[in-house]
Amino acid sequence: IQLNKESLYQLSEVANEYFQQQLWDEEEGKTLALSYFREREIRDEIIKQFQLGYSPKSRSAFTTYALEKGYKREALEKSGLGIFKEDSEIGYDRFRERVIFPIHSFSGRVLGFGGRVLQNHGKTAKYLNSPESEIYHKSQTLYGLFQAKTHIIKEDNCYLVEGYMDVITLYQNGIKNVVASSGTSLTTDQIRLIKRLTPNITILYDGDPAGIKASFRGIDMILEQEMNVRVLLFPQGEDPDSFARKHTTEEIELYFKQNIKDFINFKTDVLLEETQGDPIKKASLIRDIVGSIALITNLIQQEIYIKECSRLLDISEQVLFSELAQISQPKE
Ligand code: CTP
Ligand code: MN
Ligand code: MN
Ligand code: MN
Ligand code: MN
Repeated sequence: IQLNKESLYQLSEVANEYFQQQLWDEEEGKTLALSYFREREIRDEIIKQFQLGYSPKSRSAFTTYALEKGYKREALEKSGLGIFKEDSEIGYDRFRERVIFPIHSFSGRVLGFGGRVLQNHGKTAKYLNSPESEIYHKSQTLYGLFQAKTHIIKEDNCYLVEGYMDVITLYQNGIKNVVASSGTSLTTDQIRLIKRLTPNITILYDGDPAGIKASFRGIDMILEQEMNVRVLLFPQGEDPDSFARKHTTEEIELYFKQNIKDFINFKTDVLLEETQGDPIKKASLIRDIVGSIALITNLIQQEIYIKECSRLLDISEQVLFSELAQISQPKE
């Protein structure tokens, strides 16, 4: 059966309207989901701007609604919104009893959804996402980009966070040039989407070992795209959302101003803490950092970073340049 993309776009839009209507107009949605967002201190205007919604408990409420509207089983299956068993006529809704985050394209069309459980009881995955489809390629999508794009251009910088709620809370606090790679580790396609708007990225990952590891990987991928990268690390256990909710907008701005580091300073600080004066570890740290510098194609920038690195690590520039030359040698 040949299904065009347009019918998938239309079905996604219908689902988007449906989930929002469930949130605002139905008792179940108001009681469970609207109150959930309000507990997380998201203002109504932001809920509306991000078109947040709710998928009810019922096993097949949306699927039934869409079939009645004339949407085909194939479209429901391909979008992942409906799941049909074998030859059964009855479809099950993928999203049930979850708050819904629609994922938009650059131009604002709905491509797919993320759904979060109302309570973390650990039985089901906290977040469930739409599957890959002809219209949704998660490795080529950034959550929040549609809302953030004009702000990214204006600020000439893009904040990159891990999750849906990080985007929304920062946006609500006036930091609107923010997107999330949500659910996948950062891809080159996602970095290139940002590169169309600005050459500057600031990574704001969660303050845990996984977040630090992911930011190291992100740094090298961003440098490979000939872009500039800075990093802001949150206190252990905090993510941008939890941090922002504990502080005023002024305090958040101050924390950003005081803690955003150039990638060299960030890597040096993190790695120096790990080495604790061990010279062998320090040598491997230096190779790690020079490895990142080697990814920069602009020679002037490379030299600036080598000088910075020399100052920070107390190693002569000469030694760093010869290390750089070795690493930069074309492989093979
Ligand atoms: N994620 C996902 N599937 C999961 C867990 C996480 O797709 N089972 C994605 C979501 O996009 C999520 C992001 O990874 O927003 C970051 O995950 P995590 O830090 O665990 O969640 P938070 O966004 O902090 O969720 P919350 O604050 O709502 O608890
Ligand atoms: Mn495609
Ligand atoms: Mn995390
Ligand atoms: Mn998080
Ligand atoms: Mn969180």
